[in-house]
Amino acid sequence: MSSKGDRLWGGGYEQATHPLVQRMNASVAYDRRMAREDIIGSVAHATMLRDQGILEEADYAAILVGLRAILAEIEVGTFEWIEAREDVHMNIEAALRDRIGAPAGRLHTARSRNDQVALDERLWLRRRLLGIAQHLLAFMSAVAEQAWQHRDWPMCGYTHLQRAQPVTVGHHLLAHVEAFERDLDRVLSLLARMDVCPLGAGALAGTTLPIDRVRTAALLGFSRVARNSLDAVSDRDHLLDTLMAAATGMTHISRIGEELVLFASAEFGYVRLPDAFTTGSSLMPQKKNPDMAELIRGKSGRVAGDLVSLLMTLKGLPLAYNKDMQEDKEPLFDAVDTWDDCLVLLRDMLPAAEWQKKPLSDALDKGFLLATDLADVLVRNGVPFRDSHERIAVLVNRLVKERTTFRRLGAARVAEALDVPQEDVADALNIKRALRKRDVIGAPHPTRVGREARAVERRVQAYRARITKLQQPCEAELMLTR
Ligand code: ARG
Repeated sequence: MSSKGDRLWGGGYEQATHPLVQRMNASVAYDRRMAREDIIGSVAHATMLRDQGILEEADYAAILVGLRAILAEIEVGTFEWIEAREDVHMNIEAALRDRIGAPAGRLHTARSRNDQVALDERLWLRRRLLGIAQHLLAFMSAVAEQAWQHRDWPMCGYTHLQRAQPVTVGHHLLAHVEAFERDLDRVLSLLARMDVCPLGAGALAGTTLPIDRVRTAALLGFSRVARNSLDAVSDRDHLLDTLMAAATGMTHISRIGEELVLFASAEFGYVRLPDAFTTGSSLMPQKKNPDMAELIRGKSGRVAGDLVSLLMTLKGLPLAYNKDMQEDKEPLFDAVDTWDDCLVLLRDMLPAAEWQKKPLSDALDKGFLLATDLADVLVRNGVPFRDSHERIAVLVNRLVKERTTFRRLGAARVAEALDVPQEDVADALNIKRALRKRDVIGAPHPTRVGREARAVERRVQAYRARITKLQQPCEAELMLTR
């Protein structure tokens, strides 16, 4: 054991532990990421103890000075993390004892690592989720602007990856914005649900000392206190909610990744990805590979795995705290880090993609995208839709065999084949007009698309105000940095 490595338990132990115990038991290698949150929690707890007359003013002052110095060391990277001290909580407490001596022993009064770790995770998640919310907003804003710029650029819409009906690039982009707005909504609602302070639950059954849990919660910026001490130390639902939101968000990201891979290929040629987001091949000099788009597609798998990993860890655990729960952190950190990185990348990559007008319109020409519009012409001329569907299908079949298109055949001959007025056919086969005819809520009429793009920006402003409010540092944090 290192000179500073003495454990904070073991008073009643007669045997040395197995050589693997220390390494298996330790979580400090990863939970040290919650050091700042751990210290903020200690400041709030100590302040409440002082206010309740449980901690003397002089001890309180020493603890505060010590915690400030420790945080400074951690933040510049000179703090010595010791595996034998097991986790972030005991490293900080032991370092405080090294630094200020006896008063440090009073900090853990009426507290357990069980309510402490539950608190640290909530504080850590709050900070990181607000960061993710900011990225989601930046994505929505940048992509809505790009949608505005391309609100009237015709593009093939697909089903089954087969050319189906015309949309616009703006409409396509706004579809993705919708998904990301739902991700944001999930983050905000889970933040509201986890706005509950577990501190004061102790190891599992509260404390016999006269603490004030409402005061601690207020110092930490929580609006509610956990109602049940057993639940307070064993609840990890907010981690599961986060992992579910991350897995869903990453699924959205992966779908865009896939589209960028497809659309940037020579086969489509719809977008050009800037060099900043591609990499070369070590063998083939002509290559510009869309690695970043592929990676954001690929990384959705590991985040889904993180969710499953925590579900499996928690299933079947009896109340209250169990050491299994220490395994909650690595999947959580991995999922949040991955989601955060991928969002930043996509936020910068998608708006920088250059849409290519000619390949987009060439594809429109060849795909019989206006077949449904022609069927509607027959409907307007009194033909039942099922019959008109049949007649257009027969015509398309013929043109495919003749290797031609509606446009090359010309409105006059299409009209003749269908026995409808030529003006109606000419009107239906005009792509610009075809888009303008789609004038219902949610459809790709360019004016509607433009309006929707602008509406996104207004919603983003409102979300931003809400998030800025949530980002205000809590009182305990201010006391620490003051
Ligand atoms: N490192 C522990 C964890 O992450 C902290 C709580 C430990 N509690 C205990 N009773 N051993 O879960």
